Amino acid sequence: MLRQSTPVPSILLHPLKSILRTSMFSIALAIAAAGDRSLWNLADRTAVVTGGSKGLGRAIVEELLDHGCTVLTCARDVSPLADLLSREAGGRCIAIEADVSTASGRALLVSEVEARFGARGLDVLVNNVGTNLRKASVDYTDDEYEMLHATNQASAFHLSRGCHSALKRARGCVVSVSSVSGSSNDATGAVYHMTKAALEHMTRYLACEWGPDGIRVNAVAPWFIRTPLTAPLLAQEPFHDAVRRATPLRRVGEPCEVASTVAFLAMRAAGYITGQVVGIDGGMMQEGFRYVS
Ligand SMILES: NC(=O)c1ccc[n+]([C@@H]2O[C@H](COP(=O)([O-])OP(=O)(O)OC[C@H]3O[C@@H](n4cnc5c(N)ncnc54)[C@H](OP(=O)(O)O)[C@@H]3O)[C@@H](O)[C@H]2O)c1
Repeated sequence: MLRQSTPVPSILLHPLKSILRTSMFSIALAIAAAGDRSLWNLADRTAVVTGGSKGLGRAIVEELLDHGCTVLTCARDVSPLADLLSREAGGRCIAIEADVSTASGRALLVSEVEARFGARGLDVLVNNVGTNLRKASVDYTDDEYEMLHATNQASAFHLSRGCHSALKRARGCVVSVSSVSGSSNDATGAVYHMTKAALEHMTRYLACEWGPDGIRVNAVAPWFIRTPLTAPLLAQEPFHDAVRRATPLRRVGEPCEVASTVAFLAMRAAGYITGQVVGIDGGMMQEGFRYVS
């Protein structure tokens, strides 16, 4: 046993000091993390959400505003946003008319990002715009095929790279809205499935390419969510019933349930998550065969 007066050999003292230092540092970090609410909010962050006038995009815009972001959004018609814009009189919500399926629409949005967020950079880019035409593969016209690719896939790729330098300045993140159709067959048309699969692989690829720039890249993959896009289908009760039966939670999702996941992925709380596609599907993707007698 070492008495107080006995000098501790330095060969013992050095590792002891280092262990103490390391554990004090870990405790300090843990205390700081537990008390650091900025892990769980987006105060003073900047965000772009494409297609924010309706459906999921609108819910994401509102969620990010609630967490303290300044949000720039777009749609081809922004008039449905009039109520939100008047409510956000502080100017934290900005809406412009831009068609992101076209190069000129994307250029307009990117120039707004540079003009409004400038040296500050862009913290969050949400590639939400997407649409669908449900048809047999042989029935798509060339124009319909091109429109679906331009709207669902090319828009996200070109906007992401258009915003790359702004994202890099803020060490920001990209969240794209895919679908369960990106990795399964739910019979909503081959082209929609193809575009969502491409979006998911873009997510994995860019996460690796842009990780060294400090940019995280993730996607969410919802199943049926109640929005204007799905309203006509869900209005058909036999179809709605089939959706419920295919879903372990026995209901469709709500836009706020997608918006909250997107917000989480944008937060520092998700700071080590990149290259992931997060399912928001009531368990639908886990459901296999079930015999109910
Ligand atoms: N709802 C679901 O069940 C579900 C499930 C899985 C995945 N998703 C995906 O979630 C995303 C949003 O779907 P949603 O159901 O919210 O659709 P939605 O209700 O049809 O809303 C689409 C939004 O995007 C805008 N938009 C459409 N095309 C645009 C374009 N070319 N340029 C700019 N804005 C455009 C629309 O406004 P304008 O028409 O005025 O342009 C609107 O604000 C899509 O990517 C969709 O594939 C949805």
